[in-house]
Amino acid sequence: MGYTTKDLEAKKVTTLRLQEMKRTGRKIACLTAYDALIAEIFDECGIDVILVGDSLGNIVQGHDTTIPVTLEDTIYHTKAVVKGASRALVVADMPFMSYQVTADEAFRNAGRILKETGCAAVKLEGGKNVTEAVSRMTDAGIPVMGHLGLMPQSIHKFGSYRARGTDPDEAEKIFNDALLLEKAGCFAIVLEKIPAELAKNITDAVHIPTIGIGAGPYCDGQILVYTDMLGLTVDFSPRFVRRYANLLNIIKDAVANYCNDVKNSCFPNLEESY
Ligand code: KIV
Repeated sequence: MGYTTKDLEAKKVTTLRLQEMKRTGRKIACLTAYDALIAEIFDECGIDVILVGDSLGNIVQGHDTTIPVTLEDTIYHTKAVVKGASRALVVADMPFMSYQVTADEAFRNAGRILKETGCAAVKLEGGKNVTEAVSRMTDAGIPVMGHLGLMPQSIHKFGSYRARGTDPDEAEKIFNDALLLEKAGCFAIVLEKIPAELAKNITDAVHIPTIGIGAGPYCDGQILVYTDMLGLTVDFSPRFVRRYANLLNIIKDAVANYCNDVKNSCFPNLEESY
């Protein structure tokens, strides 16, 4: 089913609305954002969910992995995104080591994120190992988005960003983890870089929306890192990224023209002066 004005008319996207979208076959469009300006633009375009991904470690902070991102970084960027977004559901990604130590600590950190940023939900990576933390949060009214398949915070365990669930054992584990996350109370699950068929089986088996990234067309929604889909991060080009613009070239041309104008005393002219 296509994008309808009903999707845009809705005042505020809620976790319940996302579940209703799954039930009624309306796809969920999600993007990452890390600041108020970009969040406001995406919000005006009708994006349903804005994820303040821990990909901010790569995109904003210039790290090789998401591991160095701190709880304070997440809170800082999520506050900014919440200021820019008035319709979209804002989800904050819990950073590495903010939810793995104990369920108590995870619960407290998720509470801090919600209270201090004004976002509506948190996301965390993992299956069976995080269900206790997820239950604590959801019992207390903190909506949680799960994340299965490729989990970038475990890069040092797996040694690569290869697709997951390509062998039957791994596929079965991901499938069972999805059922456990739903049981623990997650309102949605991100499925990253898994075979389309496995994503379809999970999507059919759970009642909550699945949000795919490199997980094929059968998920209930899709998410991309915004700098990838707008063509800013061109040295990262996995098959699942579709480029909707080539902003890198546009920015490079504009900045080169500006440099040229300044150096040749062509900017500013008298009309641009007081
Ligand atoms: O950190 C992130 O941007 C994410 C998305 C890729 C799902 O987790």
